[in-house]
Amino acid sequence: MNHPFADRRALITGITGQAGSYLAEFLLDKGYEVHGVIRRASTFNTGRIDHIYQDPHTQPRRLVLHYGDLCDGGGLTDIVLKTEPDEIYNLGAQSHVRVSFDQPLYTVDVVAAGAMRMLEAARQLQRHKEVRFYQASSSEMFGKVDEVPQRETTRFHPRSPYACAKVFAFHQTVNYREAYDLFACNGILFNHESPRRGETFVTRKITRAATRIREGLQEKLYLGNLSAKRDWGYAGDYVEAMWLMLQQDRPEDYVIATGESHSVQEFLELAFERVGLDWREYVETDPRYLRPAEVDLLVGDASKARKQLGWTPATSFERLVEIMVDADWELARNEAAEENRGTSAADRAAESGG
Ligand code: NAP
Ligand code: GDD
Repeated sequence: MNHPFADRRALITGITGQAGSYLAEFLLDKGYEVHGVIRRASTFNTGRIDHIYQDPHTQPRRLVLHYGDLCDGGGLTDIVLKTEPDEIYNLGAQSHVRVSFDQPLYTVDVVAAGAMRMLEAARQLQRHKEVRFYQASSSEMFGKVDEVPQRETTRFHPRSPYACAKVFAFHQTVNYREAYDLFACNGILFNHESPRRGETFVTRKITRAATRIREGLQEKLYLGNLSAKRDWGYAGDYVEAMWLMLQQDRPEDYVIATGESHSVQEFLELAFERVGLDWREYVETDPRYLRPAEVDLLVGDASKARKQLGWTPATSFERLVEIMVDADWELARNEAAEENRGTSAADRAAESGG
């Protein structure tokens, strides 16, 4: 293979997640050998990467999966020392903000101590070879925002156990850079979404529901705060920025965002409009989805990334909603067809006395 990155090896934690799956595709396309950490589960959890794992062009052994857990430092160090990656992307996390209020200590273990375990493993590897480290930091760290828009210099004011854990991981990443000369960068990414987004995050919850309601598979959608505003981009665009950060001469931290903010209600309106429905007829509020402390407004200023990395987002908010609705509409149509097939099989069985 005469690809410029064919001799590069990357290790990704969180490879089975939304961003991890796009990053794995991106790096494999560049010619990297990609290693991923996956958790042992009683059901399959590789749905987002099965298509690349099974792709004959990916083989032989350009994508290798290792069992590991961010709570198990010894296991992570073994993987890092065994695979000797040139680049480590730490994307693994309990990434749901609402859930972090229910599971605060677990979230801190995975997100804060987990990042620290990966940094320690990278530090050990660095004794033998140079390694570059990407930490998946988050706009949630800005929380109750100090200024609008938020940039690299904006003060953090985290509003959840998840966000507090991310602030810890952010500072440790800077600390390992300064104390041990590790090439370590924080990507402060604002919300990024896609058809691979987990179904309990608000965008995907909406696009799943709108399309399922349209196909007669669901009656109502229950949501929390509709007035919260987010800077929503497309996950497929954002993974390039992670990679670009690790290709620079010096390690730095960067905000990655679109610069536009929209409310949950605006997302609802567009998604339901795309399937020809009026959201007001189907959406109800459920206090279970409210948070003890809310982040009201996020909007990022990515001018540093634009200038230094040459990175700009390619997908507009409107296009993002279309991409997600269209993908979920296809899923819903298939589900409806499946249900009809099941019903008619049952009808036939009943008719024949079976
Ligand atoms: P995601 O879809 O929730 O994926 C999280 C990944 O972490 C999954 O692969 C998950 O594995 C893995 N994971 C969870 N707990 C783990 C543990 N104990 N040990 C090892 N792996 C574990 O998240 P995402 O949207 O791709 O986000 C990727 C990263 O960016 C996360 O760190 C997130 O906090 C951060 N971030 C996300 C956004 C965003 O808007 N998406 C914005 C800023 C920062 P399973 O598949 O087994 O669950
Ligand atoms: N999940 C969810 N479910 N959120 C709802 C609902 C609901 O039923 N109803 C309203 N919301 C509101 C939330 O209160 C929040 O203000 C907003 O929708 C977005 O919620 P999420 O989609 O859960 O994302 P998030 O912004 O809290 O967190 C995501 O983005 C962060 C970056 O800013 C996650 O991906 C984090 O991991 C990431 O760091």
